Amino acid sequence: MTTSIYDQPPMERFKRERALAHAPVRLEIERLVCGSDYGGTSWTTVDEADRVLELLELAPGKRLLDVGAGSGWPGLYFANATGCEVVLTDIPFHGLVFAVERAAADDLSDICSFSVADAAALPFGTGAFDAVSHSDVLCCLEPKLAALRSSRRVVRGGGRTAFTMISIPPGISAADREEAVAVSPPFTHTDETYPAMLAATGWRATDHIDLTDVFLDSSRRMQREEEAHADELTEMYGAKDFAERLRRRRARVDILERGLLRRELFAATASGDG
Ligand SMILES: C[S@@+](CC[C@H](N)C(=O)[O-])C[C@H]1O[C@@H](n2cnc3c(N)ncnc32)[C@H](O)[C@@H]1O
Repeated sequence: MTTSIYDQPPMERFKRERALAHAPVRLEIERLVCGSDYGGTSWTTVDEADRVLELLELAPGKRLLDVGAGSGWPGLYFANATGCEVVLTDIPFHGLVFAVERAAADDLSDICSFSVADAAALPFGTGAFDAVSHSDVLCCLEPKLAALRSSRRVVRGGGRTAFTMISIPPGISAADREEAVAVSPPFTHTDETYPAMLAATGWRATDHIDLTDVFLDSSRRMQREEEAHADELTEMYGAKDFAERLRRRRARVDILERGLLRRELFAATASGDG
């Protein structure tokens, strides 16, 4: 009997999701929900990616690091839209292989490079980049302060970061929090607020955009589309895992409607030198 994906450690789940994200049915759903077709697993929409590239002031000659880049969404989109140079990093190697292929297909190989790297210990020189981005990555990893500190180190003084993440609103009951955590990415709960974590790691927050309404809209659309493609998805995921997946999709919409979960975008400037 195969182990349920929901019983596996987070990184194994990311790897399996990544492998399935390029199936034609998943790409079709991604187009309908986010407007992209990169095999993405974040909730980043094309409108949001357009906002991020402005916040990061991307342009030809600028160097961007996209952390937790998966198979290239939205890092490759940024390169395509602005002509900036992008280094894409993640831990699962096979996700980056999809990104390498997509960069070649989009004629971006000259300005894109790829590296297997842990967000908490980035293997790049101090001040090597003008900007750093990550899409729903901090809610997928535990060492958030180390990741923010590491990204600060590799960005030059005055450089920019912009990132999204799913988070739990403050002031909700312990029981509500438990319900929200159960249908969220593995490391959604934080003891510190994101502004406090940014300040503690050498970033000066400049923008905070609440994306919860768009997230609710995307979550409803995702649920509807997965229900509509139930036969194909059951074949891909197996009956038990797909039933659990749909249960979580429905519970997520309910949690969002009750205001127990949110999705946010932060942008910040690197304080000091370096
Ligand atoms: C929600 S996915 C987003 C992927 C991609 N940016 C997208 O939009 O499709 C989160 C990503 O974070 C990566 N990740 C988790 N922990 C990481 C770590 N410690 N270092 C680097 N990447 C990590 C996962 O492998 C996964 O690809």
